[in-house]
Order: sequence, then C-alpha cells, then structure tokens
Amino acid sequence: MRDFREINEDLDLCDQKLLELLKQRLGYVEEITEKKKILGLPILQPEQDKERLKKLVSALGSHPYGEELQGVFQQIWQAEKRVESRNLFDFNIALIGFMGAGKSTVSRYLKKTLAMDEVDVDSVIVKDENMPIKEIFDQFGEAYFRDCESKAIIKLQNRRQTIISCGGGAVVREENVTNLKKTSRIVLLTASPETVLERVKGSDERPILNGNMNVEFIKELMEKRAEQYRKAADVIIETDHKSVEQICEELLKALVKLDR
Ligand code: S3P
Repeated sequence: MRDFREINEDLDLCDQKLLELLKQRLGYVEEITEKKKILGLPILQPEQDKERLKKLVSALGSHPYGEELQGVFQQIWQAEKRVESRNLFDFNIALIGFMGAGKSTVSRYLKKTLAMDEVDVDSVIVKDENMPIKEIFDQFGEAYFRDCESKAIIKLQNRRQTIISCGGGAVVREENVTNLKKTSRIVLLTASPETVLERVKGSDERPILNGNMNVEFIKELMEKRAEQYRKAADVIIETDHKSVEQICEELLKALVKLDR
C-alpha cells in the first residue's frame, strides 16, 4: 500500500497540472473575448454553452462522481464568464428607463449570462428603509423617496462588475446621473406606452401608476421624462417586440463598440 506522503505528492502534482490547464483555458477565453471585440461577433453564445455542457455530460457517462465533477466545471465556466465580462466591460452597466421598460428582466439575463453581480436600486431602498416602496410613498411622499434613491445610488458607487437596475424616475435628478456615470455606462431601455401598460397593469406596486393605469398617463409622463432619459444614456435600446436575448446582445454589442 502506498504511504500518505506519496499520495499527497501525487495530489499536489494534480493541482499543479490543473492550475496550468486552467491558466491555459483563461488564455483561450481572453483570445475569444478579443476576437469578439475586434470583429463585433455576438457576445452571448447560449448555444455554445449548451453544447459544451452536453459534451461534458456525455464524457462523464455514469461516473460515480459525475454530479460533483459537473459542479466543478460549472464553477470553472462561471469564473471564466466573469473574466470575459471584466475584459469586455471595465465598468458597471446601469439600466435606466420607464417603468415596465424591461430593466429587471434584462438585468437578470445579463447576470446569468455574464456572471456579473446585480443590484436593484429599489431593493436597496426597501432594505435601507425596511419598508416597501409603496409604503414609503404613502407615509413620507415622493420627495422623501427620491432622497432615498439618491442615497442608494451614492452607496453603490464602490461596486464593480455590477449591473445596476435603476427605478424609472432615478434620472430625473441630475446628481443621480452624475453619480452613476462615475463608475457605469448608462443604458436606456425604451418601450412604447402600450407595451409598458401591458407589462405593468397586473401590479399595484408602483405608486406613481396607481390610479393612473392607462396609456394616456404613461405617454404623458414618458414624454415629460424623455429628454432626461436620452441625455443620460450612453446607449439606447428599443425593447418592443424583441426577446430578452436579442435586447441583451444588442446592448452588449453597443457597449463594446462604445469602448473601442
Ligand atoms: C418609479 C419607478 C419604480 C420605483 C418607484 C418610482 C418612477 O421603479 O422606483 O415606484 O418614478 O418611475 P421601476 O421603474 O423599476 O418600476
């Protein structure tokens, strides 16, 4: 029987080999990222991710530790995605736009596909105030809510590699835009008033729309804010009749181009 020391030495050797291979893989990831940047190729490749997983599952067959090994690979792939997104965007992505423009959906998808962190400004406020948005409006009014929003945005300034999903009214205050721009590129998502209504009509969590759930009100407020939205935006993406995948691909391509 081999002694402990000998087996441990073999394990160390395995670690060294794994480390070398992982470094090699990261080199390839950098190479691919560079190609995507230069040639303007699609950033997200969900089909390729699925294909890679399929190959792994088939290679694992009925290995007794198949589940654990698959978990290890998922971690590696996740870390590589973070490296890729860091190489692509050395900034946070702040999503702005009217209520129902799709900020939360886009944020969730980007988090999943780019392995970036995600934070929702409204959620920060809810946590800080220990109260739902609706209650903050009811008890203290909109001006107080806007102060909370500005404070939350300042608090997020030390975040990196994060998707910051802002409430629909966040850019109405110029100081919020200035503070967001310090670490983020700002992406404006737009949608028609009809699409917005379709997306928000089932919820009563947006105090500004309660009692105003109609196209006319939405259109009017949208037009009132339109100039501020456009002025704040580094990139503008229309979301009507597009899938979340399409929106995100368009958005990422535009951001990469912006930085080239
Ligand atoms: C608001 C939008 C909401 C929320 C608050 C006010 C606005 O966020 O911040 O109800 O003034 O447009 P969502 O855009 O995420 O719904």
